[in-house]
Amino acid sequence: MKENIRKSFASDNWSGASPEVMKALFDINIGHHPAYGENDTLMETARKKFRDIFGNESLTFFVYNGTGANVLAVRQLLRPWEAVVAAHSAHLNEDEGGAPEALTGSKILSVETGNGKIKPEQIQAFLNSIGFQHHVQPRLISISQTTEMGTVYSIGEIRQLAEFAHSNNMLLHVDGARISNAAVALNCSFTEMICDTGVDVLSFGGTKNGLMFGEAVVFLNKNIASGFEYNRKQAMQLASKMRFIIAQFIAYLENDLWKRNATNANAMAQLLGAQLSRLPGFSLSRAVEANGVFAILPPEIIEKLQAEYFFHVWNEQKNEVRLMCSFDTTEQDIEGFVSAARRLAV
Ligand SMILES: Cc1ncc(COP(=O)(O)O)c(C=O)c1O
Repeated sequence: MKENIRKSFASDNWSGASPEVMKALFDINIGHHPAYGENDTLMETARKKFRDIFGNESLTFFVYNGTGANVLAVRQLLRPWEAVVAAHSAHLNEDEGGAPEALTGSKILSVETGNGKIKPEQIQAFLNSIGFQHHVQPRLISISQTTEMGTVYSIGEIRQLAEFAHSNNMLLHVDGARISNAAVALNCSFTEMICDTGVDVLSFGGTKNGLMFGEAVVFLNKNIASGFEYNRKQAMQLASKMRFIIAQFIAYLENDLWKRNATNANAMAQLLGAQLSRLPGFSLSRAVEANGVFAILPPEIIEKLQAEYFFHVWNEQKNEVRLMCSFDTTEQDIEGFVSAARRLAV
């Protein structure tokens, strides 16, 4: 059953779970634990780990998936006539099946960015609606770190957006499905990236970097988290066997597993980018910033290469593809992919 399962470069959630996470799942499977994480000492252990990173004023909740984390964060902070500003390319806007609008009633005001990153001046125009009863009221800015285009907001850029949000009575949400890759890319801690910049709420990802499933919603100030448990239950994101999510996060934050995994994924993306760009007829369409490689390939080889190592075409007109590296991508995987590309291109 096992061998012959070639790695893909389709997405970082095509990989499995880290051995440390599998061990944590196996260990926590033994015996009985309180359901829903209620009065479970394990929950307190996990929350303490999050408080050690995000401060004593923070409060963390665990959910099943990234869409759930994002939608619940928005639903917690907005009333239906309030709006969230996000990049057009944001997962929240393009890839959540309309769940944000359906579950929150709120409109997404999207911004064209080119590289996935929003700048404060692009939000400025929406502020004219404030106080005008015919328009939705912009209340939340949501950014993805890393972005869907593989780019990374600098600490200064996040701080600027937080200051802009707060000076306009808005809040800042970070979709951190790939926050570990971003922290490694910036060589900073989560505290520096999120707390010190003034972020209000974070979807803290795990699935894309070695968890089997599970994400966390971190409110940097517990005052804005009031009632979140009801919000989560109503939206069907309260896990009955919560211990399986919590145990994974404890393993993830212990011994810097998050960092080791993201370091490997980012390093493999650098290697892949460097090697591909040396092949005649291949070029990078963006600099490699974290664990995603965006490249232009000779059009005639794309389907044949996909048959050997699956990946997604990002922009058909430009023959641009997206290649994602994972915590378990190896140098041999890169060599195999690059030599297949070289062979097919002749
Ligand atoms: C930027 C971003 N946010 C959130 C998610 C989480 O999505 P899911 O609901 O599939 O866990 C993803 C997954 O593709 C993503 O790329």
